Amino acid sequence: MYDKSSFKIKNNPVIMGIESSCDETACAILRGRKILSDEIISSAAVQAKYGGVVPEIASRAHTDAIGEVCEAAVKNAGISFSDIDAVAVTYGAGLLGALLVGLSYAKALAYALNVPLIAVNHIRGHISAAYLDDELLKPPFITLLASGGHTAILYTKSFTQFEVLASTSDDAAGEAFDKCARVLGLAYPGGPNVQRLAEKGQANINFPSALVKNSVRTQFSYSGLKTSVINYCHTLEQRGEEVPKADVAASFQQAALNPLADKTVEFARKYGVTTVTAGGGVVANGYLRERLIKECGKAGLKLILPEKRYCTDNAAMIASEGYNQYMARNFADLDLNAVAAIPLK
Ligand code: KG4
Ligand code: ZN
Repeated sequence: MYDKSSFKIKNNPVIMGIESSCDETACAILRGRKILSDEIISSAAVQAKYGGVVPEIASRAHTDAIGEVCEAAVKNAGISFSDIDAVAVTYGAGLLGALLVGLSYAKALAYALNVPLIAVNHIRGHISAAYLDDELLKPPFITLLASGGHTAILYTKSFTQFEVLASTSDDAAGEAFDKCARVLGLAYPGGPNVQRLAEKGQANINFPSALVKNSVRTQFSYSGLKTSVINYCHTLEQRGEEVPKADVAASFQQAALNPLADKTVEFARKYGVTTVTAGGGVVANGYLRERLIKECGKAGLKLILPEKRYCTDNAAMIASEGYNQYMARNFADLDLNAVAAIPLK
């Protein structure tokens, strides 16, 4: 077994990242921050039949896919397994059975290769997607994190430390998109489908903003907005009137996303940083991206917006966060277990 204390850190390590927290089985290889390969097999199409992710189906799909994605990642990176310097894996948060598939593979591989195992918090992975977009990016910066499980604005102080400046008191933004999609009769995953419908509509319905008014601390809430969308649709249906679904989607989207973009820029100004980054599945939303570009532009802030495929779940972001932990010599033991829920801080 390699000795943790005397382990020699390399400048441009080859890091394998593995992600299996939800319905994507993914593996990527990075040399430093450079992506050599990035493979993904998704069970989303199967899950769509059930209107959401069924944990047992996800676990079985990961079991079928894990060997294939990891072998493809090594092959497409043009390396051999023996070239890998560390194995980074999502250990939480996520579906326990799903996480265990990636974790078991990562542990076995790290042990066989006698290289460090790195435990990656999925959410930190989303934050670290920004480093893939700009290899020279250095903290401090303000990060907008918006996924299916989290919605927050963070002050990223260093490569391994962040402070939560604002968060949601109930649903995450992605969850709200998924629920709104269900009300509008759209398939899972809801976010992209709500966006597509919103592009055909007008934001002419006055839904409550996701920003909580009169709170001492900046706080978001999606429950009022969700209830409002449900009530609006049900009232029209009960009257036998047609629901203007595209307008509902467009109005919901603005109420859900405007405060996220605007508050992110406000915090960047307040903290005197020059750079804003973003991550998480909701950051793949075209409307949010445009708003961030516009608002950061007006405020003279540099915006690092990861490519859409690196906003939704992927393994390159896990390897990127693995790189931060590798440089900090933060290596896990082989008795590492999966954790279903990890608090943001
Ligand atoms: O980050 P992610 O892939 O997984 C989690 O860690 O949760 O985020 C998934 C969430 C889902 O709720 C999905 O509906 C949402 O991101 N999402 C979007 C879009 N693409 C994915 N929401 C709004 N617009 C999109 N284009
Ligand atoms: Zn995610």
